[in-house]
Amino acid sequence: MTDRELLDRAIAARKNAYTPYSHFQVGAALLAADGTVYPGCNLENAAFSPTICAERAAIASAVSRGVREFTAIAIVGGREGEGLSPRCAPCGVCRQVLAEFCTPDARVILGDETHLEVYALSDLLPLSFTRKSME
Ligand code: THU
Repeated sequence: MTDRELLDRAIAARKNAYTPYSHFQVGAALLAADGTVYPGCNLENAAFSPTICAERAAIASAVSRGVREFTAIAIVGGREGEGLSPRCAPCGVCRQVLAEFCTPDARVILGDETHLEVYALSDLLPLSFTRKSME
């Protein structure tokens, strides 16, 4: 699975985004250590705070199936009916949830149909609080 292929899977996952309030649609594709890809999209709620981000939707889907090891996640976003943003970086809450299940070197792939950038999770969440912090 190349970075480009994983990003294309995120673009496909975005098509299912449920965004009647923000109209900002996000897609994620989470690559498990065994090579399986788990898609996620954001799903909003009339009460706003129950909204689930695409990244966490993907993680919940995988963990619900007993999968807990991931090597990469691709993320795309953009306003409904418009082109993709060149870079849709994960929110702080999603970075924290990714840190629960990913090693610091996990790849975070951001981009659109024509370009991509790759970051290490530890670049996006330095000095993270993890289970090791409580030992
Ligand atoms: N959103 C995500 O899906 N992932 C992020 O990392 C940032 C924000 C969603 C939540 C909400 O549905 C919309 O984008 C606008 O914040």
